[in-house]
Amino acid sequence: MQDETEQGGFPVPLHNAAPLDAPEQAPYAHHLFLCSGRYCDPEGKAIALYNALPRLLGELGAYDNPARIKRGLTACLGVCYGGPLLVVYPEGIWYHHVDEALLQRIVREHLEQGRPVREAIFHQLHAPPAESGASGASVP
Ligand code: FES
Repeated sequence: MQDETEQGGFPVPLHNAAPLDAPEQAPYAHHLFLCSGRYCDPEGKAIALYNALPRLLGELGAYDNPARIKRGLTACLGVCYGGPLLVVYPEGIWYHHVDEALLQRIVREHLEQGRPVREAIFHQLHAPPAESGASGASVP
């Protein structure tokens, strides 16, 4: 059972220092979420993309690789059009209209080389610093 203390009138769960029954999580570098909801993906393409990821990721998907890339399906990301949608964390970079060719580029360019596929991004959680003389945010 977790300990709790009061902070501002609300209980604050503390980290369980000695978890007896807590699951373990191996280190990882990125987490991908594909939306399989029918509003943004009416043809159900996200499932095939999800199933293609182990092949596309290769060793980057291996459980014992500390730089591994986890994948997940989600029922809705709150956007609901323009899918299949893919979000990459921890960057918080969102891609739209993902097909297998774009997914291959995301794996190779974004995840392996650290260069997001700019033309397919529609949102970024953490805006990078504006370039000198530029008026808006840009993707690295
Ligand atoms: S159904 Fe995909 S974002 Fe809502």
